[in-house]
Amino acid sequence: MKKVFVKPNLTLFDLSSNEPLFSPKEVLEGLLESEKRLSSKFFYDQVGSDLFQKITELPEYYLTNSEIEILHNNLEEISDLVGENAAVIEFGSGPPLKSRMLMKAIKPSLYLPLDISKSYLLEASKRLAREFSWLQIRAICVDYTRAFQLPFDPEKKRVGCFLGSSLGNFNKSKALDFLIRTKKFLGHGGELLLGVDMKKSAEILNLAYNDSEGITARFNLNILDHINQLCAARFDPANFVHLAGYDENLGCVQMHLVSEVDQKISVLDTEISFSKGEKIHTEDSYKYSCKEIEGLALQAGFSKSVSWFDSKKYFGLFYFS
Ligand code: TRP
Repeated sequence: MKKVFVKPNLTLFDLSSNEPLFSPKEVLEGLLESEKRLSSKFFYDQVGSDLFQKITELPEYYLTNSEIEILHNNLEEISDLVGENAAVIEFGSGPPLKSRMLMKAIKPSLYLPLDISKSYLLEASKRLAREFSWLQIRAICVDYTRAFQLPFDPEKKRVGCFLGSSLGNFNKSKALDFLIRTKKFLGHGGELLLGVDMKKSAEILNLAYNDSEGITARFNLNILDHINQLCAARFDPANFVHLAGYDENLGCVQMHLVSEVDQKISVLDTEISFSKGEKIHTEDSYKYSCKEIEGLALQAGFSKSVSWFDSKKYFGLFYFS
């Protein structure tokens, strides 16, 4: 673990020096499976993070704006629930606007943003540290989808924030595992603010993941550039296309890249063959009904829930305690 004092009110704990966050071996394993896949954590290099920020500003991608609307309308109630003197732990340092709104309203005594991308985490944390000089920030570079421990004990009530519907990127059993692990991690009296994208018509969902400007396509394809850098691979993104569609039976938007030609690509000195039309799975985005998400939280050991929605009921914010 590396500890760096960045500013008087900002310290960075880098847990990635214990265990590498990205393993080239993992990339190869996924590409050697009969249904090829790449983990969605490879989306977020600097270019990918910037493109995702652009996605969140698209009119079709209603998720972020709906969540901001909910936060805006219910900040007082949320900050009453969190109470004073809490340690707010944010899983993934998401769009800066949301973190700013939360910090301003909640005024926690400690803010712990967790993110796998060190550069993104640092940039976002520095901005917050500058704006809120009263806020103590301990930023932690970690892959929070795996088990981990805080390198210190904040000795305060822990409130987790998992916004932007990121829970939907786990399949149902991984989502339950995550909630169980998080419940334990937050400890006795710990609480969780969770953003959830609700089930809705396929038409709206398909538009959200296939915007007209093609930014979503660029975001999905950028994973290949990132893999090229990480694994000395030779993907040509021009030979793949973005494919996203809502499967109503699964309740899930599935993201793929489709090979447009027969091709062989070298990855870590191994040749990977693609036939024309073959897909690489890059991400799933599960959508929930109220009943489903509350049932899952209950199974994970949370007992009370409060929820808020945007005016269209597209998105939900749940407070589990
Ligand atoms: N986690 C985001 C989501 O599920 C990521 C995302 C948005 C995404 N658009 C995408 C991933 C398109 C792949 C392709 O909403």
